Amino acid sequence: MKVALVGGSGGIGRALLKQLAGRREVRAVHATFRNNPPDLDHPKVSWQPIDLARESSIRNWSEGLGEVDWLINAAGILHSRDNQPEKNIRQLEPDFFLRSVSINALSTLLLAKSLQDHLKHGRPAVFAAVSAKVGSISDNRLGGWYSYRASKAALNMCIKTLAIEWRRTLPNVTVAALHPGTTDTALSKPFQRNVAPDALFSPERSAALLLDVLAALTPDQSGGFWSYSGERLPW
Ligand SMILES: NC(=O)c1ccc[n+]([C@@H]2O[C@H](COP(=O)([O-])OP(=O)(O)OC[C@H]3O[C@@H](n4cnc5c(N)ncnc54)[C@H](OP(=O)(O)O)[C@@H]3O)[C@@H](O)[C@H]2O)c1
Repeated sequence: MKVALVGGSGGIGRALLKQLAGRREVRAVHATFRNNPPDLDHPKVSWQPIDLARESSIRNWSEGLGEVDWLINAAGILHSRDNQPEKNIRQLEPDFFLRSVSINALSTLLLAKSLQDHLKHGRPAVFAAVSAKVGSISDNRLGGWYSYRASKAALNMCIKTLAIEWRRTLPNVTVAALHPGTTDTALSKPFQRNVAPDALFSPERSAALLLDVLAALTPDQSGGFWSYSGERLPW
């Protein structure tokens, strides 16, 4: 099977990549990074830079892929050099909000647009994006983090809507939004202080659990929001 892994250079993405490349049934992993090619050489792995903020970059990458069995988008942003997640509405920066929506939500739709012909081969296939439980509207009790929460809620809606369309046009594809659990990566590093040690997953643990969830899903479950535990999360 051939896997396309977006965000293979990230904490969770890199762990997914290593585990996927180690599986006998995986023939090739086409992984992406943004800036610096990761120092991870493996005979099954090829790397390509893409900027998820640009449709042309996504299109150019997807054109060379051929048929794809699994697409996983493990890219995302919570903070940047200049922006931290908002504690209150005064801290809202329109540019950061829009960038969050672009990278965390729109990129998955652009990937779907560019890759749908590559998934149309009739074999069981997966199209999954790593979302976050804080994107659940009904689970929002703490507030804050406007840009991240809103962009992940938008991603969840994109996943649900895509699943409805593809149920007709690509019934072999299972579309899924995933919650990896709080995972020890650069993204969560500044916010780990209040996380209990046993609630902070290593990227390897998170990746293994997410791959188990994906392997167990079937096309009739397409359009769900799944926790690392296999539990269905509320929108
Ligand atoms: N860590 C957690 O606790 C946690 C919890 C819930 C959900 N998540 C979600 O899990 C996913 C992975 O997060 P992580 O913790 O692994 O974060 P991470 O280590 O910061 O990795 C983020 C990835 O996104 C890529 N990326 C960011 N902006 C991009 C752009 N414009 N174009 C292309 N690639 C871009 C990065 O590429 P470069 O490395 O090349 O910049 C990197 O591969 C994210 O969607 C995140 O929201 C994480």
